[in-house]
Amino acid sequence: MSKGKVRIVEVGPRDGLQNEPREVPTAVKIELIERLADCGLAAVEATAFVSPKWVPQMADHTEVLEGIRRKPGVAYPVLTPNLKGFEAARAAGASEVAIFGAASETFSRRNINCSIAESLERFRPVAEAAATSGIKVRGYISCALGCPYEGSIAPEKVAELAAALHDMGCYEVSLGDTIGVGTPGKTRAMIEACAQRVPIGRLAGHYHDTYGQALANIYASLELGVATFDASVAGLGGCPYAAGASGNVATEDVIYMMNGLGIETGVDLDKLVDIGEWICGLLGREPSSKAGKAIAAKRKVKAP
Ligand code: HMG
Ligand code: MG
Repeated sequence: MSKGKVRIVEVGPRDGLQNEPREVPTAVKIELIERLADCGLAAVEATAFVSPKWVPQMADHTEVLEGIRRKPGVAYPVLTPNLKGFEAARAAGASEVAIFGAASETFSRRNINCSIAESLERFRPVAEAAATSGIKVRGYISCALGCPYEGSIAPEKVAELAAALHDMGCYEVSLGDTIGVGTPGKTRAMIEACAQRVPIGRLAGHYHDTYGQALANIYASLELGVATFDASVAGLGGCPYAAGASGNVATEDVIYMMNGLGIETGVDLDKLVDIGEWICGLLGREPSSKAGKAIAAKRKVKAP
């Protein structure tokens, strides 16, 4: 019997590949996005319309967004830090964009070269232009559970920014543990603070797995009613402006946990494991998904 539904936002093609030292051909990015959509994911974050000087890995954003075969019903959000990025994304056919701020002043400056207050002034015209064009806007908050430069971040600070992004028109605010330092108690306190300002159904969890806490943090968030989680196939990724941060929680691990809890995601775990093995083979790295590795190992034992 189903115990509810969870929506997974696959962020591997963006959050994963933005931090990849090897150059990934545009055709591989396109195939990755299409295969992820084909395995049942409802949202696949495709790329970032950011400065190629800051993040060269996303320089082919237009070719990627224009090149993908879009599956009906699947969202393909793209990051847009300012109006310039938004206009380029719109020209390439974006139907959903994401603005991304931070709960830490220092991280905001290192990541998008402006203060938190200035970032909100840059996001406002993006949100307005998106509303006029019928384009959905998602909001991100980095450092929601800690900052690589400032250390701990007060839950109230995260909640304040979440409210500002929601008021600006973001249909959802994704709370990022950018460097994966959070633990379930801290996560609970942060979500509870945000839920006082933004309806819980409009909050999403975006947890990196640096300290192996991401699944526990997802579970703590689930218990409070959060029903959308960002994840990255094979745990790809990190953040170019957060040294040492590892990838997002692996999508395979989240799906395995949801399946065990009887929570529907619509994702075919076997297909997802194949995608993780394929992309990691091309990138020359090991998948960091424990569930992915266990399922792949079991298959090898069964194969004659
Ligand atoms: P800036 O240098 O302050 O921008 O960068 P500027 O407005 O002064 O412009 C400087 C130059 O950049 C100009 O070019 C602009 O045209 C160009 P020039 O005249 O020097 O040739 N420019 C752009 N080019 C392409 N696309 C644009 C754009 N805007 C200006 N949109 C900016 C400000 C935000 C652009 C820069 O800091 C940037 O691109 N940062 C991106 C950082 C990034 O992508 N970080 C990773 C994503 S966030 C993340 O991973 C966290 C998340 O996963 C959640 C979590 O885990 O916490 C979301
Ligand atoms: Mg991230």
